[in-house]
Amino acid sequence: MTVQDFTSAVLRLADEGIAGVEASRSAEELEALRTALLGRKSGRLTELMRQLPSLPPDARREAGAAINRAKTALEQALEARRAALAGNGGKQAAADLTMPARRTWQGAKHPVTLVIEEIVDIFRDLGFTVATGPEAELEWYNFGALNFPPDHPAMDMHDTLYLEGDVLLRTHTSPVQVRTLQTYPPPVRIVAPGNVYRRDFFDASHAPMFAQIEGLAIDEGTSFVDLKATLIHFARRFFGASKTRFRPSFFPFTEPSAEMDVECGICEGSGCAACKNTGWMEILGSGMVHPAVLEACGVDSERYSGWAFGMGPGRIAMVRHDIPDIRLLYDSDIRFLEQFVR
Ligand code: PHE
Repeated sequence: MTVQDFTSAVLRLADEGIAGVEASRSAEELEALRTALLGRKSGRLTELMRQLPSLPPDARREAGAAINRAKTALEQALEARRAALAGNGGKQAAADLTMPARRTWQGAKHPVTLVIEEIVDIFRDLGFTVATGPEAELEWYNFGALNFPPDHPAMDMHDTLYLEGDVLLRTHTSPVQVRTLQTYPPPVRIVAPGNVYRRDFFDASHAPMFAQIEGLAIDEGTSFVDLKATLIHFARRFFGASKTRFRPSFFPFTEPSAEMDVECGICEGSGCAACKNTGWMEILGSGMVHPAVLEACGVDSERYSGWAFGMGPGRIAMVRHDIPDIRLLYDSDIRFLEQFVR
């Protein structure tokens, strides 16, 4: 080997060695490199050093100096890298690219949100748009304009959550009917999803806050036939080929009023715990909008008529997924919510 070959081999080794040191990611890796480069038995620089005697005697001094420079440079690089890795938590690498990736979180929509979206989609196909209103509502919108008599028990402090003065947390989404009719002249077709509040205990079947979806259709010549046809169409699409039935009911803001039941999807009408052995599930309240409500909103009740409904998507989600306790919907328990990833 000539001196030139020898010194260029030393330089190459130093370059490679320093690059390797700088790329090392842990103290262990660095120690292995030190052994491979400078180890007394079989380090690569040590091997080169052993070849010194084979060089012409007058070249050994120069070759030896090259070896020493390489050794010093490698030792400095090793020390610098050791300090850098130690600053990064000692033993561990700055980033261990071989570590398996952490499982990513898969977000999911809440089961009640999914039901709301499905209901809104069905009504969108029928020409309904989405309207919203405030959750902190004025007493007049929540009760007065909806034809509640002034002594109605729902307006009592014990039944409704008042904020201050005549501002309360709305007890239903029906005030959106009033706000919509005040803003847009008929014909009007809207659905209004949103949260409502009641002074109820938080138990297996009650929550002080829950979601509702309001529906409102106002036009000339609209009748109870439209109400029934639309809601039955909705039930068919949403629940499949379920049977429905209407039962007379009462709301101050509709006349006549009716509640709609669908055949219980769990027992198919034979009676079970979910439907309290009736074979039916109550899903909504509805009725023809009371003329007094139209007049309170500035709509001519001689010319226009219409119908409205209000349903509880939380209850529908419970029926659909066989959820036994309403509190599960509010616990934010990942193990529960994960089941609705789709
Ligand atoms: N707002 C009523 C409730 O909360 C439901 C309803 C809405 C009934 C529209 C008739 C018409 O119970």
